[in-house]
Amino acid sequence: MPRYELEVVERQEPKPDHVELLLDAPSLAAALTPGQFAHVWTPGRLRRPISFSRATPDGRVGLLFRVVGSGTRWLADRRVGDRLDVLAPLGHGFPTPETGPVLLVGGGVGIPPLFVAAQRWAATHPLSVILGARTADAVVMVADFQALGLEPSISTDDGSLGELGRVTSPLTRWLARNDGGQVLACGPTPMLAAVAELVGDGRPCWLAYEQRMGCGVGACLACVVPGVGTDGQPEWLRVCHDGPVFSSRRLWWARRPEEA
Ligand SMILES: Cc1cc2nc3c(=O)[nH]c(=O)nc-3n(C[C@H](O)[C@H](O)[C@H](O)COP(=O)(O)OP(=O)(O)OC[C@H]3O[C@@H](n4cnc5c(N)ncnc54)[C@H](O)[C@@H]3O)c2cc1C
Ligand code: FES
Repeated sequence: MPRYELEVVERQEPKPDHVELLLDAPSLAAALTPGQFAHVWTPGRLRRPISFSRATPDGRVGLLFRVVGSGTRWLADRRVGDRLDVLAPLGHGFPTPETGPVLLVGGGVGIPPLFVAAQRWAATHPLSVILGARTADAVVMVADFQALGLEPSISTDDGSLGELGRVTSPLTRWLARNDGGQVLACGPTPMLAAVAELVGDGRPCWLAYEQRMGCGVGACLACVVPGVGTDGQPEWLRVCHDGPVFSSRRLWWARRPEEA
């Protein structure tokens, strides 16, 4: 799989405990599918998977992450001019949506891959965006979506930004307003499960699923989750290789939450 040494050309701290590194990577920026991720080397640990947060016309890609442990702490300490050892682009991203309305639902650090989807499809599809997090400090990239002419509906659990509550409220309203369309979501598993349940079987629903990973390329089976085959029978899915984006119909917990 492609391995790159990529130079950090810009570093931002968009919110407390959140860092975005922009990397000089013209070939990646041109080839990226929204929802694909980078497996980033960090010293003395396994590589860490981080979704791409943007791809710019001048050949940069972004990695936007929340600092939660030693690997993301090390990454957050990188500075302009440093180089990152990156396997990318990995996994299967979101498929190009059919024509018709498309809703992007992002929760916390699930927001960045949906911005790549917005960059890719804002000009060709009617897009709506719902962003959510526990607090205002974890809602990222709002201004980036606005720069594309999109006005995200924002929900926070504590009401510190946007509507008080979960993304499920604006999602319910969007589903009532739109007969067809499709939903693309990335965020914590309980959020994805709620999105899958509300969207149901009537329209396409694609979920970007984050799972602890080892190799990142399908070899170690560290990331397997129970799935549902096209014949309705159980099958194991490797999140890194078969996903991380799955149709909600393929994930066992999204299909049969009572058995998860
Ligand atoms: C495909 C994919 C894409 C991702 N994209 C992003 C992204 O765009 N931005 C971002 O901030 N994070 C993203 N993550 C999560 C990121 O990989 C983890 O936060 C990171 O690996 C943590 O490493 P660490 O050494 O800092 O923390 P660790 O010391 O490894 O863990 C710190 C804490 O975080 C928890 N944790 C670590 N990894 C995960 C995980 N994958 N899911 C749930 N809990 C976890 C641990 O259980 C522990 O409680 C993604 C994960 C996957 C699988
Ligand atoms: S992380 Fe090794 S198979 Fe997915």
